[in-house]
Amino acid sequence: MTNNTAKVTVITHPLVQHKLTLMRKKDASTNSFRRLLGELSTLMAYEITRDMPLQDLEIETPMEKMTGKVIDGKKQVLVSILRAGNGFLDGMLNVIPGARIGHIGLYRDPETLQPVEYYFKMPSEMQERDIIVVDPMLATGNSAAAAVDRLKKLNPLSIKFVCLLAAPEGIATMQKAHPDVPIFTAAIDRELNDHGYILPGLGDAGDRIFGTK
Ligand code: URA
Repeated sequence: MTNNTAKVTVITHPLVQHKLTLMRKKDASTNSFRRLLGELSTLMAYEITRDMPLQDLEIETPMEKMTGKVIDGKKQVLVSILRAGNGFLDGMLNVIPGARIGHIGLYRDPETLQPVEYYFKMPSEMQERDIIVVDPMLATGNSAAAAVDRLKKLNPLSIKFVCLLAAPEGIATMQKAHPDVPIFTAAIDRELNDHGYILPGLGDAGDRIFGTK
């Protein structure tokens, strides 16, 4: 039997779960929320990059020559969905410092409720790169699906989607629109409320990262 839905990986490592719980607390300060997100994204990047291709590198140890294995970090592109996606970047760059960065900005049209692109800036030669799209909250999934739609037009080698929290509704949207894109998350929460917020969630991720509101 073929499985046509994208694989969803919940990163259950105890350190990830511990830090996520601290972030969810309503009295977590902007400072600690941001720090925890940085730490979490480093830990998540470690899991997400598990299947990254390696290439041979001839080196010399103090003892003799050998062929080692290295990654080509330049082939990786982190694509942040503005603005909350930016909170993931520094932590992930700790693990893949050579990664290039792209940004995509989308807003929701108040009439159609569909995402509209207002910013799109990517590195060159995307067809030679593996993309990791980052956005802390996979809520309705409409922005994530629209971002991946747009990125697929650049014909990259692969696309992964990474979030901190996913709602079942968002996962369903992504699996319907992009069954070939694996999803990585630290938790799958219960549901969305009428305003599109994840429950129990952690509130507005952008506001909590940037201290706005
Ligand atoms: N975006 C957020 O920042 N929080 C949610 O709960 C849903 C979408």
